[in-house]
Amino acid sequence: MRIDILTVVPELLQSPLNESILKRAQQKGLVEIHIHNIRDYTFDKHRQVDDYPFGGEAGMVMKPEPIFRCVEALQAERSYDEIIYTSPDGVRYDQHEANRLSTLENIVILCGHYKGIDYRVREHLITREISIGDYVLTGGELAAAIIADSVIRIIPGAIGDEASALTDSFQDNLLAPPVYTRPAEFRGWRVPDVLLSGNFAEIDKWQEQQALERTERLRPDLLK
Ligand code: ADE
Repeated sequence: MRIDILTVVPELLQSPLNESILKRAQQKGLVEIHIHNIRDYTFDKHRQVDDYPFGGEAGMVMKPEPIFRCVEALQAERSYDEIIYTSPDGVRYDQHEANRLSTLENIVILCGHYKGIDYRVREHLITREISIGDYVLTGGELAAAIIADSVIRIIPGAIGDEASALTDSFQDNLLAPPVYTRPAEFRGWRVPDVLLSGNFAEIDKWQEQQALERTERLRPDLLK
């Protein structure tokens, strides 16, 4: 898989995408991540990526030309399955969408910024608008990092233990059950006996019950 990320603040993306599991996934050749500075696709001397909005509201709007130029340069090399725009007024992101994106070959993620982006980009270039939640970030970079992270970790081979990506919270619309490690007793709090029993049928049953109980209590909307 190849992920191209377009941003005006590339520094924000460098370290989150180049550590730990994501770094290893790239070293193993499972994913290529390319970060592009939109400013490199401007032609004017001030390398201007934004401008005042028509209609006179406050705030700046990202200009269409450098964005089109950057995406079209990429499209000249290969075709893209989705051109994603990160924005609080996009479709809410979830595990189903992460699963779907992880099956694609090439995606672009355009990070929103300032007050927004010239609407012609959204109308004529973007194929998917994604919000990571109902709150507003200073820019789309952290949202893009979250999307890339959640997609890459489920590519087969990215996580050492294949099973663990499948038992994530949300993969079956349930929150994950509690997990424990040694010591079996810490400050008088004991790990549930069933987990120490060695009876895997009983352990499975207990984990299912716990997942259901936690989901009913904390995220009843997932069960609807
Ligand atoms: N940019 C600013 N806020 C955002 C959000 N909630 N999701 C995606 N991109 C954003």
